[in-house]
Amino acid sequence: MLSKRPSERRSASPNSDRVAEILQAAADLAAEYLSRSDDPESPVTLNPPPSAIHQRVPLKLDGPAVPVDELMEQARDLMELSVRTGSANFSNQLFSGFDPVAIVGEWLTAVLNASMYTYEVAPAMTLVEREVIARMGKAAGWTGCEGLFTPGGSLSNLMAMLMARQRALPKVKSLGLQGSKLVVFTSAEAHYSVERAAVILGLGSDSVVPIGQDRYGRMRSDAFEYEVKKARTEGRQPMMVVATAGSTVLGAFDPIAEIADVAEREGLWLHVDGAYGGSALLSAKRKSLLNGVERADSLTWCAHKMLNVPLSASVIIVREPGLLHQCNAVHAEYLYHADNDAPDLDTGEMSIQCGRRVDALKVWLAWKARGDAGMAALVDRKFELATKMRELVRGRERFELLSDPDEVGGGCNTCFVYHAPSLDGLPPEKKLRAIDAGTHVLRERVRLRGRVLTNYAPVFGVRAFRHVSANDRATEAELALILDEIEAVGADLDLRPLAEQGTRPTP
Ligand SMILES: Cc1ncc(COP(=O)(O)O)c(C=O)c1O
Repeated sequence: MLSKRPSERRSASPNSDRVAEILQAAADLAAEYLSRSDDPESPVTLNPPPSAIHQRVPLKLDGPAVPVDELMEQARDLMELSVRTGSANFSNQLFSGFDPVAIVGEWLTAVLNASMYTYEVAPAMTLVEREVIARMGKAAGWTGCEGLFTPGGSLSNLMAMLMARQRALPKVKSLGLQGSKLVVFTSAEAHYSVERAAVILGLGSDSVVPIGQDRYGRMRSDAFEYEVKKARTEGRQPMMVVATAGSTVLGAFDPIAEIADVAEREGLWLHVDGAYGGSALLSAKRKSLLNGVERADSLTWCAHKMLNVPLSASVIIVREPGLLHQCNAVHAEYLYHADNDAPDLDTGEMSIQCGRRVDALKVWLAWKARGDAGMAALVDRKFELATKMRELVRGRERFELLSDPDEVGGGCNTCFVYHAPSLDGLPPEKKLRAIDAGTHVLRERVRLRGRVLTNYAPVFGVRAFRHVSANDRATEAELALILDEIEAVGADLDLRPLAEQGTRPTP
């Protein structure tokens, strides 16, 4: 059988002999796309309705084989119809910008197509992952910690809550919750994945007690302590507290050290959700925002948010080695053989997944390419741009900044409202109502113009613009453009009728 010539042994794919050519075409396409994303004149989005996408690209999968060259054209069209999240005019989410080395890491991940469950099948990548986790843990002040890459911050938070549940109920794996009344404390500003994880873990959404915040959106540790005691008097079992380092809307950093004091006194698991702001640990100037993280039990941190690495690149790190395994192992003998090559390096039984992507490679490559100083500079730049953005907001008469994180160490989000001329003279309560509803209308009009994409969110009960300084390539011109665009749509728009309406009008 082995005597067949190589060409006879190879099979099937009509393109398998054109590997280099196809990959080169894809590289050209990607390079062209990214250079256009870097051009401030390129629209950030064409806002295509579904019909326009269908019209331009034959999406149906029921036809004959399409030659690769033609397929590349279709891919180009699909990319044109996508949002340019790498553009400096994209500040809609907690990620933007791009890093070509990290993109290469993503491609090589696909080329390797390894699965992280056993050392045997992913030997080099297992060690790469261990190194990245160890380095990130070191930034948090830990040695001897362990962790995993997960499919995102939400999943990292879920895994932290799984471990906290395990510690609170050591027999939960075999016996289930058995009517226990576990409680999770987190700031009212926490990401929704905390509540969703409580649902998934069978704790129920009512098990999550939202804690009040200060005027910067940071959890109040005295309110946290009060709620723990209250829960105990109600016969409930406090399980954990989730502190947020870089909240989704305000970019606020909870006072981790104060929260750790209470958590230690009360015997609670302390998880730090640093999905967004964990990267501040890499900056000498900003790491004090996470003071106390070294006392936490676990940490979520997404390199795909502040570090320009493509989605997804999130880790869960835990201070106590062995706990992930204890939570997740169910001893699948068919895969995790006792005589596997280096079974103590197998990570599959620490995970809630079976097959698991190699997400560590792109982070490792990007980190190597920038070095520690380059990583710190990337983070610093984003904080500095946010400060600049707030200066611009303050400098324009009709804009009002709702919170200034620079008064408490900094943050990358800028939340503000626009006082449209049409609202001049309205009594304060009516004006507030019109601003609340009007933010949505203004933002929608700005979005449809396609030059910039920035989001809005409720801030202290009022819908406000939330600008994220996620793109290190942004300049003052791009920051100003957002304000220009809002002024351009808002100057002549009559928002007065909104003062009389309820919430959520159509634009
Ligand atoms: C504070 C925080 N935690 C967790 C998440 C969830 O991360 P992911 O979108 O990667 O699931 C987010 C997402 O924005 C976040 O802001």
